[in-house]
Amino acid sequence: MKKIFLVGGARPNFMKIAPLWKEFKKYKHLDVSIVHTGQHYDFEMSQAFFQDLKLPNPNFYLGIGPGTHAEQTANIMIKFEKLLYTETPDIVIIVGDVNSTIACALATIKFRCSVNSTNRPLIVHIESGLRSFDRTIPEEINRVLTDTISDLLFTPSLDANENLKEEGTLESKIYFTGNIMIDSLLAYKKLAKKSKILEKLGLKKYALLTLHRPNNVDDKKILIEIINTLKEISKTIPIVFPAHPRTKKRLTEFGLLPDAPITLSSNNPSAITNNFLIIDPVRYIDFLSLESNAKFILTDSGGIQEESTVLGIPCLTLRDNTERPITVTQGTNIIVGTKRESILKAVYKIMTIKTKKRKIPELWDGKTAQRIVKILNREL
Ligand code: UD1
Ligand code: UDP
Repeated sequence: MKKIFLVGGARPNFMKIAPLWKEFKKYKHLDVSIVHTGQHYDFEMSQAFFQDLKLPNPNFYLGIGPGTHAEQTANIMIKFEKLLYTETPDIVIIVGDVNSTIACALATIKFRCSVNSTNRPLIVHIESGLRSFDRTIPEEINRVLTDTISDLLFTPSLDANENLKEEGTLESKIYFTGNIMIDSLLAYKKLAKKSKILEKLGLKKYALLTLHRPNNVDDKKILIEIINTLKEISKTIPIVFPAHPRTKKRLTEFGLLPDAPITLSSNNPSAITNNFLIIDPVRYIDFLSLESNAKFILTDSGGIQEESTVLGIPCLTLRDNTERPITVTQGTNIIVGTKRESILKAVYKIMTIKTKKRKIPELWDGKTAQRIVKILNREL
C-alpha cells in the first residue's frame, strides 16, 4: 500500500482535489487521505464544497483559520509536520497557490531533511508553473517557492512549462497534464442546469461579480472606485455579487454596505442598489449555474478566468495582470484593470459587440486527473 496525502485548505483547492480523490479510489494499492488545513472554515467556503463535490469528510483537519501570512503559513507547517511524523505518507500532493500549498510543501521538504531522506515523501504540485511575474501578489511567491521544492510538477498549459524551464527547472520533473479544475467543471456542468439559484434570486439577464484580491479590496480608495463603477454598470444590467468573507468585512468596515451589518444569503439578498445584489458566497453547483448563465463575468479570481473560458462566457478581469495568459490568448478573458474608464469601456464593448471567438485550451478536457494518476502510479 502506498500512502497519499491530498492536501486542500481554501475554497479553490477543493474542486482541484475532488477529481484526484475519485481517480485514486480506483486503485486498491493506493491509500488516499484528505488533509484539510482549515485555512477556510465557514460552511460556504469549505464544507459546502465537500458536499457538492461528493468528497468524504477530511481524514485530517488541522483547524488553522485566519492569521497574518507568517502566522497562517507557520501554523499550518507546525501542524502538518506533526502529521508527517505520525502518518509517514509516501506522497504529498498540493494544489494551486494558497498559503496552505506552500506551507505543506515546505513542511514536507524540511521533514525529509530531518529524517535524512532525499525523496520520500514525494512532493507533487498540481497547477504548477503559472506566473504573473508580479511579486507584490502573495500567491506569486507561493507559486515560485512551491515549484522550487516540489519533485513532480503538473502543469495546466504549455506556457507554464516554459516558465518552469526559464527558471532552470529540470525538464524531467515537468508534466503537461491539463487543467484539473476543469475536470470538476465538466463533471458538474450538467447538474448545475438543475440549480434553482436563478429563480431564487429572480435573475434573467445579469452580470456576475466576484472580488477578493487584497490589492482590490483591502485598499479603501480602490474598493470605492470599483464599487462606484459597478453601481454605474448596474444601471444597465443587474449585477449579482457573491461576496467573499474578506470582501464582506471590508465593505462593512468602509461603510459601503448601506444597511450593514446584514445577513447575506441567497434567500435574503441585500442590495447595494436595486440592481446590485450582494449575497453570501454560493456553493459550487449554484455558482456554476450563475457563471453559465451570466451575460458576462467581472472578477479578480484566478479559477473563474479559467472556468469562464471553458463555458464561453466573457470574463473581464479586474486586475492588471494574470498568471493564466492562455485564458486571454485563447479564451474569453480580457484584462481590464481596476480603473473606472477601462472597466466601463470593456463592459460597453461586451454589451454591444459580438464576443470574441474562443478556443478551449489543450487538455482542458476533464481527463487531467486520469493523466496525473497514471504518471504517479508509474513513479511509485
Ligand atoms: C485565500 C488565498 C487566495 C485565494 C482565496 C480564495 C492565500 C494567501 N490567499 O485568500 O489565493 O484566491 O483564498 O478564496 O492563501 N475568512 C472567513 N471565513 C473563511 C475564510 C476566510 O471569514 O472561511 C476571512 C477571515 O477574516 C480571513 C480573511 O477572510 O482573515 C482572508 O482569508 P485568507 O484565507 O487569509 O485569505 P483569502 O483572502 O481568503
Ligand atoms: N466559487 C464558488 N462560489 C463562489 C465563488 C467561487 O463555488 O461564491 C468557485 C468557482 O467556481 C471556482 C472557485 O470557487 O471554482 C474559485 O475560487 P476563488 O475565486 O475563491 O479563488 P481563486 O481561484 O482566485 O484562487
